[in-house]
Amino acid sequence: MVGFTVSPVRRWALRLGLDLVHTEMVGVEGIAHRNPRSLEMLSCAPGERPVALQVFGSRVEAMAEGVRVALRCHPFDAVSINMGCPARALVRSGAGAALMGSPLALEMVSSLKGLGVPVWVKTRVFEDRVRSFAFVEGLIEAGASLVVVHGRTPSQGYSRPADRAAVVELARAFPGRIGASGDALSPEGIELYLEGGCACVLLARGFLRDPLLALRFKGRPSGQGELRRALFALAEEDPSPLGGRSALEAVKRVLCQALKGFPSAAVCRDLVSRARSRGEVREVLSSFLGRPASDRFNTV
Ligand SMILES: Cc1cc2nc3c(=O)[nH]c(=O)nc-3n(C[C@H](O)[C@H](O)[C@H](O)COP(=O)(O)O)c2cc1C
Repeated sequence: MVGFTVSPVRRWALRLGLDLVHTEMVGVEGIAHRNPRSLEMLSCAPGERPVALQVFGSRVEAMAEGVRVALRCHPFDAVSINMGCPARALVRSGAGAALMGSPLALEMVSSLKGLGVPVWVKTRVFEDRVRSFAFVEGLIEAGASLVVVHGRTPSQGYSRPADRAAVVELARAFPGRIGASGDALSPEGIELYLEGGCACVLLARGFLRDPLLALRFKGRPSGQGELRRALFALAEEDPSPLGGRSALEAVKRVLCQALKGFPSAAVCRDLVSRARSRGEVREVLSSFLGRPASDRFNTV
């Protein structure tokens, strides 16, 4: 998730029961041109895995070259091409949701075959289920080993509940190849997708709102005490390999989302967002949440 899933946040998420994490979405043109900001977005800490690289782009050659460069920087466990993001700037450039149904999408997937890494696609549904089926089938035939489908069309944004039935229908048609996305906000919501035959479920807003969601799903301790400890642990997470500033901004964003349910959340979030160092973030958390009884963070 852009602006959120930087390396320290990903390591924290792995300790909170997630089975795999994604990088932020990185542009392949920037990677191919060794743009310093793009290369920074590829940085991972030793032992931070499994981690999938998510990329976006509109040209087949740049896709292949960008991913080749990225894999030289870090041995990612998978590469996921974004073909579903409806952000206007991305779509105008021919990337994200603009690739849905396009022959270029299939060429992009094919171009990554032979790089020795599983190729995944993240996309959305079409209004017309036949088109969704045909697009997913094409992606799989082109070499995608997993297609994660968000059950909303690009024009729907988040305006209505995700169409779980459409995602499950694809999972039944392509066993083991479909990951689910959309309203994975509770253990029950996750279970519905898995019972429907989805190979995995992608957590997005559910994790931001409730960082213990994966632990809760796995039946591990996940009460208020654990949440407090987890929030302090995030504030104390080592920022490397990022520069302290990039890490701090993402950590603050994640904390501001997770603090929403706490008493005096608005004031606390405002102070967190204005903190200029990890120390200041910790002070704000201590004064609003109190120090956790034990610093032991419930890792999995
Ligand atoms: C803040 C935010 C950032 C996101 N960034 C990305 C991204 O970089 N790549 C991507 O494929 N999807 C991204 N998404 C979409 C989510 O992966 C997911 O498909 C969507 O939020 C629906 O799932 P949910 O209803 O469980 O949140 C983002 C969503 C949010 C809320």
